[in-house]
Amino acid sequence: MPAEGKVAIVTGAGRGIGAGIAARLAADGMRIVLADLDHAAAAETAHKLAGEALAVRCDVSAEADVVACAGQAMERFGRIDVVVNNAGLMTFKALDQWTAQDWLRVLSVDLVGAAMFTREAFRRMGEGGAIVNVSSVHAVRTTPQAAPYAAAKAGLLSLTRSAAIEGRERGIRANAVLPGAIDTAMLWSNPNGRSGVETIDRVDVGAAADIAGAVAFLAGDEARFITGASLAVDGGRLARLCRRRHRLRRGGARRWRQGRACKARNRARNLPRPPPARARSYPG
Ligand SMILES: NC(=O)c1ccc[n+]([C@@H]2O[C@H](COP(=O)([O-])OP(=O)(O)OC[C@H]3O[C@@H](n4cnc5c(N)ncnc54)[C@H](O)[C@@H]3O)[C@@H](O)[C@H]2O)c1
Repeated sequence: MPAEGKVAIVTGAGRGIGAGIAARLAADGMRIVLADLDHAAAAETAHKLAGEALAVRCDVSAEADVVACAGQAMERFGRIDVVVNNAGLMTFKALDQWTAQDWLRVLSVDLVGAAMFTREAFRRMGEGGAIVNVSSVHAVRTTPQAAPYAAAKAGLLSLTRSAAIEGRERGIRANAVLPGAIDTAMLWSNPNGRSGVETIDRVDVGAAADIAGAVAFLAGDEARFITGASLAVDGGRLARLCRRRHRLRRGGARRWRQGRACKARNRARNLPRPPPARARSYPG
């Protein structure tokens, strides 16, 4: 079935990446249910969409809200074809400071909310249904002070695999995208970015539309043979971090710094340059 006429629930669609996903799926012809804690923001985004849309006030961490939202989608449109679990929050503390309450707050929004929407999708979706979970590169590699977020996003990848396995017989697919740094309120309020703990090069910052494009593909029929997959949408940031870490582990950077210091000392003493080394050292 083409995108036209399908119904998609997008959580956290009031702003940022969720609003970008809602706009893209609507432009593709889907009817959108925008589920957000902030009803006014969801309604404003809904107003700007190309097609039919319904804004619902929904706290994804409240089971009753999730059930009510899925019910409203069915009541208004009579079907649910796509669920995009995008709502999320990120909080920051050192590991010795987190309370159980802090952990549960992040896990209940970023992971349990998606699990509840997955359950509702399984109960109401027909064959050809698709779930797309918005995880994060933090599911794979992370920074200090973000333990619950990293754990929740890693858990979301696991939930994606479980949903893919159990969805197979029902004809429901489940996939995840792992955004890198995306230009939204969440990115620029990150204290690790402001303190310099996490450095983000401007060229590594993508737009909500970059995530929306990947989500639209995974939600659509062209991805009919893709399920249980995790797709990094990060401009190659993860790949580069891996390479650098590998080189540092081999001691290449240390040897390079030592070599540079030695050459500088020889120059200061007017000594002849040593013969060129056979093997190249970092940076290559
Ligand atoms: N921006 C980035 O750099 C980045 C990177 C990796 C992953 N992500 C993930 O992408 C998703 C969207 O991020 P964003 O940058 O657009 O964030 P954002 O903070 O700009 O927007 C989040 C939206 O979710 C809503 N929301 C928050 N808690 C909710 C709840 N309990 N129930 C329903 N709605 C709720 C907010 O009202 C808001 O509209 C998140 O899951 C985030 O973890 C973002």
